[in-house]
Amino acid sequence: MFHARLSITRDDIVAPVSPRLFGSFVEHMGRSVYTGIYEPGHPTATADGFRQDVLDLVRELNPSLIRYPGGNFVSGFRWEDSVGPDRPTRLDVAWHSVETNEVGLHEFADWAESAGVEIMQAVNLGTRGIAEAAALLEYSNHPAGTALSDQRQANGRTEPFGIRVWCLGNEMDGPWQIGHKTAEEYGRLAAETARVMKWVDPTIELVVAGSSNAEMPTFGSWERTVLEHTAELVDHISLHAYYEEKPGDLGSFLASGVGLDRFIGDVAQIIDEVTVEQGLDTSIGISVDEWNVWYQTRFNEVDKEPLFAGDWNTQPRLIEDEYNVSDAVVVGSLLISLLRNSDRVSMANLAQLVNVIAPIRSEPNGPAWRQTTFFPFALTATAAHGDVLAATIHSDTYDTREHGTVDLLDAAVTATDEEIVLFLVNRSSSDPLTLEVDLAGAPADSVLSAQSLFAPEGGDRFAANTVDHQNTVHPVDLTDVTLADDGTAATVVLPALSWSIVRLAAKAAA
Ligand code: AHR
Repeated sequence: MFHARLSITRDDIVAPVSPRLFGSFVEHMGRSVYTGIYEPGHPTATADGFRQDVLDLVRELNPSLIRYPGGNFVSGFRWEDSVGPDRPTRLDVAWHSVETNEVGLHEFADWAESAGVEIMQAVNLGTRGIAEAAALLEYSNHPAGTALSDQRQANGRTEPFGIRVWCLGNEMDGPWQIGHKTAEEYGRLAAETARVMKWVDPTIELVVAGSSNAEMPTFGSWERTVLEHTAELVDHISLHAYYEEKPGDLGSFLASGVGLDRFIGDVAQIIDEVTVEQGLDTSIGISVDEWNVWYQTRFNEVDKEPLFAGDWNTQPRLIEDEYNVSDAVVVGSLLISLLRNSDRVSMANLAQLVNVIAPIRSEPNGPAWRQTTFFPFALTATAAHGDVLAATIHSDTYDTREHGTVDLLDAAVTATDEEIVLFLVNRSSSDPLTLEVDLAGAPADSVLSAQSLFAPEGGDRFAANTVDHQNTVHPVDLTDVTLADDGTAATVVLPALSWSIVRLAAKAAA
């Protein structure tokens, strides 16, 4: 049995909880759109051709904003193809696929409205530039009386879409990107595009593209150069981070949140340096607009070459990773990292939403179900409100290859006047962990609920939810939670390799 102590106080607030931390991502890629959210002819299809079963799961997952329509896809995308009555079929060379453009901006916006999510729209700065980005913005957000806004109205949408958050391209630092650029080339283009877009609609927020991952050879210098060009024009800079379990190194994988903390800290430092150097009084947020567990090594080494040498398909099965218990624990831990860093992280998007490295899976003409990673996301997005409180951790530790010595406990805490919520991870793959929570600075009245996700009976950490066994892994009630009579201390026993959520009713202020 391992031990840890967690101290929290209402006097130490990291930041208010932003619902935008719980975003997701729909890319025109693989089966994310076609046979994912959209499948006319499916038994549950709505009149508009969207899958009701998937929509119900999206509502339960509870994302706040959804990045659209890519990803690598956006860097070859002509937005005009996806509006109006004529929808040309095009090659999508980013993913060696065929795009029918059956679902476009209008259809997606209607779906987003029914899902209760805000759209975060990306523009193409790979093959296109200022004019096309400004035109899409005018089409989307200008009320009426210009050719583009009138065209939107003629296409059935009287009121503007009112899209507030816009990404200036995607992963432009990556040689895999269509229209890949140097930091200098991209920084100039992003700055000029940002300037014009804000002239078209000054109410928008812009996200400039940061590094595709912390291992990029240009990481750091990319952010610095791009921000030197754009700092006074943009509101956020993106950060993309994917993690996977490498053979024989579960320990490092379980500590992925430590890697994300460091990545966020490094980008935050560059933001501060550039804004100080430029004498700017603005705050630039970090938009972690692609993050997840993704078995990318497998994709790059095994699946990618045959994909690009193979047939062109409209809905190829691309990166449909099946997630196990360890993956869910890591997703929970990455959410904890995002909460912990919410003084710097302005938004975050779990990449992606359906089928493509996704918490929701669906089969064509078949069922939709929750992957293991669905649960930490849904429960965190639904329970995290009020403020993120600073949490002091004293924990037993373990050694990792990638991240040095790491606490076995990972934790974040949110609180409203009514509720205190603990998000907890036990990184030990072998033993439970007894956690003492010091609530003297945030006393509680009672335990409202406590749930935990860990290996099902038999202890198989590779257990997953599949089309044939859709409910193998799910959270269960945690019984080992006790609260002291005066409400100033609690004890929780966290199962080995687990993600847990404990909701406490807060004591009313005297
Ligand atoms: O999410 C899958 C892909 O990962 C996206 O298209 C790209 O932006 C990233 O490399």
